Amino acid sequence: MKFDVEKIREDFPILSEKMACGRPLVYFDNAATAQKPRPVIEATAQFYSQDNANIHRGAYELSDRATSMYEKSREDVKNFLHAAAEYEAVFTSGATESLNIVAQCWGADNLKPGDEILLSEMEHHANIVPWQFMAERTGAKIKVAKITPEGELDMDDFRAKLGGRTKIVSIAHASNVLGTINDISSIAAEARRAGALISVDAAQSSPHFLDNLECADIDFLSLSSHKCFGPTGSGALVARKKLLDNMRPWKFGGDMIEDVAWSGTTFRPSPERFEAGTPNISGNVVFSQACAYLSKIDRMAAQEHEDELLEALTEGLLEFDGLKIFGRAKNKVPVVSFAVEGVHYNDISSMLNNYAIAVRAGHHCAEPLMGTLGLMGTCRVSLAFYNTMEEVEYFLRSLRHILSVLR
Ligand code: ALA
Repeated sequence: MKFDVEKIREDFPILSEKMACGRPLVYFDNAATAQKPRPVIEATAQFYSQDNANIHRGAYELSDRATSMYEKSREDVKNFLHAAAEYEAVFTSGATESLNIVAQCWGADNLKPGDEILLSEMEHHANIVPWQFMAERTGAKIKVAKITPEGELDMDDFRAKLGGRTKIVSIAHASNVLGTINDISSIAAEARRAGALISVDAAQSSPHFLDNLECADIDFLSLSSHKCFGPTGSGALVARKKLLDNMRPWKFGGDMIEDVAWSGTTFRPSPERFEAGTPNISGNVVFSQACAYLSKIDRMAAQEHEDELLEALTEGLLEFDGLKIFGRAKNKVPVVSFAVEGVHYNDISSMLNNYAIAVRAGHHCAEPLMGTLGLMGTCRVSLAFYNTMEEVEYFLRSLRHILSVLR
């Protein structure tokens, strides 16, 4: 059955917004944050209208209700990810916090001088900087697997750098710049054979196909609700409970302790030990509504639709003289980064704004990758299933006009 994109678009009120130039919004910055469907917007309003109270603390009906909704959402998120029974979901503020918990809480007690952390050249800063900080503190070393000219992970280099000293492989499921989808099953299997743990940054894959990712061979999985059409400031670290329960917390306060005395404090098991203080209750409750929304749509058809858009966009861009696409992997999420000879990426994105087209320009929080590519930045188009072929064609026409003015 054909994917009914016009019907899907009705679920996203913001897509009918007109920008200052008077044209309807063309939202091509989905890798930065995705737009929200009505059930997510309505559930947020409903939570604050009917259910808001602090969780795990009040001996009254409203607090019980909020607590039940919060804990049900945790189960819903785990179910959405097909997480097996040995996994736990810690609610976080997003993938960045999840990755920081892995690096800081697991790394602090499990890395020692000489140990190695294996990353890749295509990582986001959130999967680089926490490890640099931890390497500095523990004396562990960071190794970086190279990418091929097409922007795929160079598996030979990955294997050469994976060894007996590798304690953890931490890698993006999909690159936010190149769009490359990494073959996590093979990477995880290789990591396991080498005796290393595997942490996956699923921030960019989760909006497209995360429900196909079996958690079975992964130790840590980080994702953001806002990239999956849910609220900002919410996300999850889904990880093996046994690992989580043996990691010391990093943030201390209410709701994560067993007993506090002047002589010392004991902590609750996971997930609570990582959720000190009042969390983003509504955001985490509504995260499950985004999962429910994604579960209801035909994800296979949505993916096919995204692939068609990606192909048309790529082919259209390749017709431009002096334009280069960075990231030509066989398997990609619908993210296309490009640069045009003699034209600054910021000028392109600012001028696209005059056509009501929203794209991101810059280093995309991946400066080391920019170094590999020999660039300061790119223009990036990132699509979602609610984008249309007409929008892609309009973008290509607008870009042609802009470049005729700029060059
Ligand atoms: N990490 C997000 C992006 O790639 C914000 O735009």
